[in-house]
Amino acid sequence: MTLYETIFARRSVRQYDEALPDAAALPEIQGYLDNVGQLPGQSARFEIVGRDRLKGGFAPYAILAYAAESEAACVNIGYTLQGIDLWLQSQGLGSVWCGMATPLEKSPEYRILLGFGQTSVPPRKGEDDFKRKDVSEISNEDNAVARAARLAPSAVNLQPWLLTFSDRQVEAKVNVRGIGRVLPGRLWLFDMGIVLKHIELTLTHEGKVVKELAINGSGKSLSVSARY
Ligand SMILES: Cc1cc2nc3c(=O)[nH]c(=O)nc-3n(C[C@H](O)[C@H](O)[C@H](O)COP(=O)(O)O)c2cc1C
Repeated sequence: MTLYETIFARRSVRQYDEALPDAAALPEIQGYLDNVGQLPGQSARFEIVGRDRLKGGFAPYAILAYAAESEAACVNIGYTLQGIDLWLQSQGLGSVWCGMATPLEKSPEYRILLGFGQTSVPPRKGEDDFKRKDVSEISNEDNAVARAARLAPSAVNLQPWLLTFSDRQVEAKVNVRGIGRVLPGRLWLFDMGIVLKHIELTLTHEGKVVKELAINGSGKSLSVSARY
């Protein structure tokens, strides 16, 4: 499966096959992490650890994401780790974003983790298997990009984005309603990067050349955009 196709099959995996940790795959995954594309000007670091180094979480392994604290750094980690989430699931592994789990070893640069391992649940069969808002609630147009953006994972499934299509540009603004009350911390910043990855993959799948990915504004006026 391509990363684009995986958008329609992925799920948050919370049940893992403990008998098959498949340590042989770890260097390949670390190699992928070391070379993965990030947003301009960003340079998050990623480290694979075993469950023994975590407090909470579901998976036998986790990818810890580190970067100096800033909104752009969190959006970038969302964007980058979502590519990894899709890549892991395209390889037949399971993965899950986890804002609630933390590494035992404290670091001021730690931002979030993605758990992964051998999944014990099958992939989704298609769009109907997803619990999401209607496209009309998140976008001013119903098209392939909006449908793939709709399936992006988000903390507490809030889907805190509103897409606007204009001339050769897609912009996703933060939909602030309820965010402050429901979400701990600023997990929605990761969500904005995650949706940007789904937007980029769909544009590329449609044969468009993505010329610029950007983070605009800040706080609840933040948006992400893709120009093609
Ligand atoms: C930034 C972020 C943090 C998340 N944190 C958790 C978590 O701590 N625990 C959990 O069970 N799921 C967590 N999730 C998974 C979401 O609940 C899940 O993506 C959403 O409900 C949609 O379900 P799906 O990914 O299966 O499509 C997180 C997702 C994101 C994007």
